[in-house]
Amino acid sequence: MRVLSGIQPTGRFHWGNYFGAIRQYIELQNENESYYFIANLHALTTIRDKQVLQQNSLDAALDLLALGLNPDKATLFMQSDVPEVSELCWLLMSGTPMGLLERCVSYKDKTAKGLSANAGLFTYPVLQAADILIYDADVVPVGQDQVQHVEVCRDIAQSFNHHFGETFVLPKPRVMPVAAKVPGTDGEKMSKSYDNTIEIFEPLKPQRKKIMRITTDSRPMEDPKDPDSDHLYQLYSLFASDADREAMAAKYRQGGFGYGEVKKAVADASEAYFNEAREKREALAADTKKVAEILGDGAAKARKKAAEVLLRAQQACGVK
Ligand code: ADP
Ligand code: TRP
Repeated sequence: MRVLSGIQPTGRFHWGNYFGAIRQYIELQNENESYYFIANLHALTTIRDKQVLQQNSLDAALDLLALGLNPDKATLFMQSDVPEVSELCWLLMSGTPMGLLERCVSYKDKTAKGLSANAGLFTYPVLQAADILIYDADVVPVGQDQVQHVEVCRDIAQSFNHHFGETFVLPKPRVMPVAAKVPGTDGEKMSKSYDNTIEIFEPLKPQRKKIMRITTDSRPMEDPKDPDSDHLYQLYSLFASDADREAMAAKYRQGGFGYGEVKKAVADASEAYFNEAREKREALAADTKKVAEILGDGAAKARKKAAEVLLRAQQACGVK
C-alpha cells in the first residue's frame, strides 16, 4: 500500500492539523511506503509574500520532523521540487469539467469569505489530483474537509482511465474518525481561517493563556454536564490516557467542578504530550542544513517515481 499526503505551509500547524492529519502520517510511515510533502504551490494561491512562504515552508518541515516524521521511513519533500506534478496537472486539466470544480466546498468557502478567486484557487483540486496520482498512491490520509478533494481526484482519474486506458491508481481517503474535527478555542472547527487555533509549538506561556480563555457555556458549577457535547472535554480527550479521560467524563456527569480546572488539565496534558517534540524541534531548528538535505533526498526519490507515472500518462494521452 502506498500512502501520500500533502499539507499547506499557510501558517504554523495547530492541534487540528496534528490530530486530523499529521498524526496519521506518522502512524502510517511504519507500515507503508509513504510520501509526504509540503504543498507550497498550493499555498501560493493565498500567500503572495516570498519571505512568508519560505519561512512557512521551512517551519512546516521542522514541525513535521519534530513531530515524528522519520525520513528513513517516509519520503518528505517540497511540492515545487517535483516539477513533473505541474506537467501532469495540465494533462488532467483538459479532462476536468468546470462543474466539478465549481462544486468544491473549499473554493466556494474561500470566495464566500471574500478571498479573490484567482485561477489557481479554482483549479487547486486538479493540482491536488496530480499530486496524488503521480505517486500511484492508494491511500490519502486527510482531515474530513479534504475528502471531497480526494473524491474529485478519483473522478478525474477515472475519466482519464476511461478515455485513454488504465493509467492511474484510484486512491482512497483515510480519515481519523476520533479527531475528524478538532474544535478551536471558540468551539467551532479549529482552523487558521477562523482565528481560533492553538499552535502546536507556540511558546508555552501565551499558549496556556489562550487555553484559559477557551469559551465555555455559563452552566452553574453544581450542574452535571454531558462530556461528549463539550468542546473542552473533546480537547482534553485528545491528550489524556483512557483512564484520565474516563475520570474526567465521570466528573462532568457528576457536576460540581469548574471549567478552569478542565482548562488547566488541558494545558498540562498538552504540554506533556508535545514536550519531546518541542525539544526535538529546537535541535532541528539549529541545523537547517540537515533539514535541507532531508528535503533534497526526499525530492530526488519522489521525482523518480513521478517521472515514471508522468511518462505513462503522457504516452496514454498522446503527447509522447
Ligand atoms: P486550516 O483549516 O487551519 O487552514 P488546513 O486546511 O491547512 O488547515 O488543513 C491541513 C490538514 O489538517 C488537512 O488534512 C485538514 O483536513 C486537517 N485539519 C485542519 N483542521 C482540522 C481540524 N480542526 N480537525 C481535524 N483535522 C483538521
Ligand atoms: N489541499 C490540502 C490541504 O489544504 C493539501 C494538499 C495538497 C494535499 N495536495 C495534496 C493533501 C494531496 C492530500 C493529497 O490540506
